[in-house]
Amino acid sequence: MLSDTEREEIQKELPRYAHKRAMVPEALRIVQEHRGWVNDEGVRDVAEILAMSVDEIETIATAYNMIFRKPVGRHVILLCDNVSCWIMGSDKLQSRITERLRIAPGQTTPDNRFTLLPSACIGDCHHAPSMMIDGEMYGELTPERIDEILERHP
Ligand code: FES
Repeated sequence: MLSDTEREEIQKELPRYAHKRAMVPEALRIVQEHRGWVNDEGVRDVAEILAMSVDEIETIATAYNMIFRKPVGRHVILLCDNVSCWIMGSDKLQSRITERLRIAPGQTTPDNRFTLLPSACIGDCHHAPSMMIDGEMYGELTPERIDEILERHP
């Protein structure tokens, strides 16, 4: 069940949206901010608050790569593997991350430090290859820069 604080924060944002459907990503973001990810209970409660079906909320939740439907580590790496980044070598970056952290895409390190998630375009194509960690963009990446950036996230 969502906490009173979560419910209050969602209710407070509601008047800013002409349609409840448009509020879904923000409501899920609020839940995730409090829990680190959005569990089934969170989806169900958001559906109830916004008077929408669970399936509708689920569809929107899975469309956003910044909404996590499974537990994640302290730092979430969204590694873009869309066409511009792929052409510029995102596969080499993924290999480097996998080698360094010993996790495959979709996995979390045993110490819960990093989760690596493949991602559709993150809107930084002009700096491809790119990734995002905890919402911060990193572009023009090389395997060497990957090492340095990972070190900055204890
Ligand atoms: S294709 Fe990678 S940021 Fe757009």
